Amino acid sequence: MRLFLFFILILLGCSCKSEKKSNEAMDIVEPKRAELSFDSQIFLGNRLFSEKTCITCHDVNRVKKAPSVKEIMAVYKEKNGDIVAFLKGNAQPIVDTTATQVAIMQKNIDGFLKKITDEELNSLSIYMLHIDKLYPE
Ligand code: HEC
Repeated sequence: MRLFLFFILILLGCSCKSEKKSNEAMDIVEPKRAELSFDSQIFLGNRLFSEKTCITCHDVNRVKKAPSVKEIMAVYKEKNGDIVAFLKGNAQPIVDTTATQVAIMQKNIDGFLKKITDEELNSLSIYMLHIDKLYPE
């Protein structure tokens, strides 16, 4: 019985090792991706806007807990604002500057938005920039 258990342990040890090796091999061959096309950026931006919960506060058309995407974009286009800079915490709010409202959005900037890649932030901003064309009245 003991010998049998010993065998099983050795077998387990071997299988773990070989798994590690194949993982290492996969790391090395991972291909570099080309830059996203315009359509892919719109697609990714749209998906992230729901996945990252933006949509729970920002409706496309209606003002809910927060300004609508169309309202935000009207101000950003007029004042030549930079969405990516704002989402990275490098630009001041220009849409709703009420302290309580700013604090709600600031929590996202200090929280989950720190974990979003530049490519994802760019896609979010491209999606928002084209909201009028994607959802015409
Ligand atoms: C918990 C609610 C909430 C969530 C979730 C949320 N926001 Fe906001 N957001 C707000 C509020 C409230 C404001 C208004 C304050 C302001 O303008 O800074 C705002 C403002 C903004 C503005 C305008 C900032 C300005 O210049 O005034 C942008 C752009 C924005 N949000 C993008 C996003 C994106 C992109 C996401 C998802 C990654 C997101 N928000 C998620 C509540 C939210």
